[in-house]
Amino acid sequence: MAKDPPKSQAERTSAPYVSLGHFVDPGSFSEFGKHVTAGPRSGLRNPPEGDGVVTGNALIDDRPVLIFAQNSGALGGSLGEMHAVKILQCQQRALKNRCPVIGLIDSGGARIQEGVSALAGYGAIFRQNVLSSGRVPQISVIFGSCAGGAVYSPALTDIVIMVRGRGQMFLTGPAVVKVVTGEDLSPQELGGSDMHSHHSGVVHLVSENEEEAASLTRRVLSYLPDSAWQAPPERPPRPARELPPVPGDQRKVYDVRGVIEGVVDAESFLEMQPDFAPNIITGFARLEGKPIGVVANQPLRLGGVLDAQAGDKGGRFVRMCDAFGLPLVVMVDTPGFLPGTEQERAGVIRRGAKLLYAFSEATVPRVTVVLRKAFGGAYIAMNSKSLGADQVFSWPTAQIAVMGAEGAVGVIHRRELSDHPYRRAQLVKEYSEQMMSPQRAAEVFAVDAIIQPQETRSVLAATFRGIRSGSAQYRHDNLPL
Ligand code: HXC
Repeated sequence: MAKDPPKSQAERTSAPYVSLGHFVDPGSFSEFGKHVTAGPRSGLRNPPEGDGVVTGNALIDDRPVLIFAQNSGALGGSLGEMHAVKILQCQQRALKNRCPVIGLIDSGGARIQEGVSALAGYGAIFRQNVLSSGRVPQISVIFGSCAGGAVYSPALTDIVIMVRGRGQMFLTGPAVVKVVTGEDLSPQELGGSDMHSHHSGVVHLVSENEEEAASLTRRVLSYLPDSAWQAPPERPPRPARELPPVPGDQRKVYDVRGVIEGVVDAESFLEMQPDFAPNIITGFARLEGKPIGVVANQPLRLGGVLDAQAGDKGGRFVRMCDAFGLPLVVMVDTPGFLPGTEQERAGVIRRGAKLLYAFSEATVPRVTVVLRKAFGGAYIAMNSKSLGADQVFSWPTAQIAVMGAEGAVGVIHRRELSDHPYRRAQLVKEYSEQMMSPQRAAEVFAVDAIIQPQETRSVLAATFRGIRSGSAQYRHDNLPL
């Protein structure tokens, strides 16, 4: 949906296209900096009042937030010196008040007329994004253009929501791209929601319109604490949906989201980045009313393998949950890391390491359930006990091993098989029974207990009840991975 052009200059400059009323509790918005304008150094003849951004504090579901909204009707929402100072005030007040900061973004980037002052303004905002990172939740909603320097502030925040058809993010706009590379692209092709939700991974959630963007913002905040120094907000517990059966045949795929919903409180699961690296699922949920982060392999996509993108996606989500004190539930059904030149070139070693790092570092309670298979490096990476999981459970029919039976037998019985190829089926059976059973993993304490699928929710809930979360505190930043 394209935005309608404004009808008059007065309408252009009066307010952002986005309606703050959708985002904040009625009557709660208190504006500051309304009369700020660009000074004489800007060289602007008629600088707009407010300098193209509305800033203030408000309540969302009765909780305090700082919020700013850019107005592309005023100099394209471009960021000049005073515009930057206003945003910086929002960020700093949020940190001081220990509450979230929400940016509603519609900007052509650094205001060209203000030169280096505009660039310096972005620099100060980026720095503050980093100083606030992991301390207070930072959410960006891209409801219009987000061009040039404007892109990096959202990229440094925790969650980016984009309005489909209206939001567009690019470091260099289509006109410059055409000159430099010859590519002739529309703004949406270059930086619309499809690009950023499927390919770049910049965007966590896509909304169909502004109202939905506002309700997603509320929903995201409903899982996060006001700051790292507070506990995440609780809701009344709700029973889970019915747990669907998982196919016993390892070659059959299923949607792991059904299992997640069969374990967590009904209607509480909110998936993040559903279209980016869909072979790993990340999302917020609640268990007995308490917010948790969920990470799960998705057998429906690439058989649930881990790859370079999954390392980025999973690693950052785990770090964000840990920063804000959300316990982690990890569901494992993965054949391993994806092999091959393409993955090695993509940096599967370096990017996969982010997932291992994030789990190893996390101090929130974290519990793993092996649903069907956990092989090799992916077994280790998915919050194994050796990476410090508080508890690892396994369903009775799961397989846990260095690799699948066919591959393993081919390696360790190579000579025997070249003389007696008919022995393969028997050797595969023996390997499966002796080396892959969860009992074997439990004997060496890689698994704490073997549980029935139907018990999963109650076992997880009891486990979390028994682990002290520790007092809420600043743990670490949420570095963009
Ligand atoms: C000053 C700007 C501006 C900017 C837009 N405007 N961007 N003014 N500085 N950066 C003004 C336009 O001149 C125009 O003014 C009005 O805003 C609306 O712009 P339009 O182009 O008519 O709007 P639209 O067609 O919706 O296109 C939006 C847009 C386009 C795609 C964002 O404006 C655009 O490509 N702008 C430049 C984007 C860009 O390259 N920014 C990089 C800046 S350098 P009038 O008076 O005609 O209404 C930067 C470097 C920082 O940010 C790097 C830090 C890492």
